Amino acid sequence: MPSFMKVGDVPRKRFSQFRREDGSLYSTEVMGLEGFSSDFSLLHHRHAPSSIVACESVGSAQAELIDNHPLLPRLWHTGRIETAGDTVSGRFMLCANADVVASFVTASAPSPLYRNAAADELFFVHEGQARLETIFGTLQAGPGDYVLLPKGVTHRWLPAPSLRALVFETSGHVKVPSRYLSAHGQFLQTAPFSELDLRVPSGPLLMDGEGVDVLVRTAAGLTRYTFERHPFDVVGWFGCNYPFAFNIADFSPITGSFHRPPPVHQVFEAPNMVFCNFVPRMLDYDSRAMPIPSFHSNVDSDEFIFYAEGNFFSRRGSGIERGSVSLHPAGHVHGPHPGSTDKAAERVGQRTEEVAIMLDTFRPLRLASRAASVEQAGYLHSWTARAV
Ligand SMILES: [Fe+2]
Repeated sequence: MPSFMKVGDVPRKRFSQFRREDGSLYSTEVMGLEGFSSDFSLLHHRHAPSSIVACESVGSAQAELIDNHPLLPRLWHTGRIETAGDTVSGRFMLCANADVVASFVTASAPSPLYRNAAADELFFVHEGQARLETIFGTLQAGPGDYVLLPKGVTHRWLPAPSLRALVFETSGHVKVPSRYLSAHGQFLQTAPFSELDLRVPSGPLLMDGEGVDVLVRTAAGLTRYTFERHPFDVVGWFGCNYPFAFNIADFSPITGSFHRPPPVHQVFEAPNMVFCNFVPRMLDYDSRAMPIPSFHSNVDSDEFIFYAEGNFFSRRGSGIERGSVSLHPAGHVHGPHPGSTDKAAERVGQRTEEVAIMLDTFRPLRLASRAASVEQAGYLHSWTARAV
């Protein structure tokens, strides 16, 4: 994140001696991106964060992925996924490539303490509430919230009483698009959201305990570390690398007299992908406008859309419902549902109340074999006016 934050007790000078009242030293941890050459935070622990008394493998993380061959658009219904498990065990993978893993997570139990050492984790909450506890402090999350957990942040999710969310594990870092930011990192006035819309951990979260387990995810699988002392022992931190939340309702849409393409809806980016929001907004308002997407061929991207709220006018009759996910891959031309373009002209100057989020990946996505159990058969033919 570009904005500097300071939370809790920190020393007057960075990398200086920082002592408790009894004169003993706190332990300073640097969490820096790109080694020591980019954004970072300094965290001040009561105890050494490296004090590990046990370590064991908890199994391999190799999920079965299959090529999208023959090339098909896909439609998955997350409403068919039963709520169970926690935010670590309750991940239902839909698709993935080397850059991102997209899963739907359901949780009705507190997660273990957990850190992902291989990816940033970007949640989008669909239903339910949860308290997120991290070494940086606490955040509350509910419907419409994006929650970004940067790589390496020890945390746990406490559903209240349950949580249903998308989670994107990105091997590179999720960032605000650079075109929204000034040369010095402030959100520009033309950006569709700003620093005021971001919710950050409000204060230190301190817990006591000995022999505390933390699951660490790497590309090879999960490792269980047992720490000598509870990892929630940070009395203060400062910097620009920290978890935050952002509600999609705080995204101010950019509209126009004629069609505005998806880049105006962008909210985040990561290497080889972008994330966009489609939120309630005025449709195109010139009397000659066609307020519906054109057919498009996604020449350089696979398009993953989650339909969160509303009825989806341009694809009404396709089987898309609240909680569906469509995957429209490169090489497959798609667009409005048959008949919807004829009705679109009547919608000039009206509003749409749809809420959807989109991930466009610049490298092909492979399919999790498990996703077939929630896939709608025959989605390929949903654009065909006459049944095949
Ligand atoms: Fe599309």
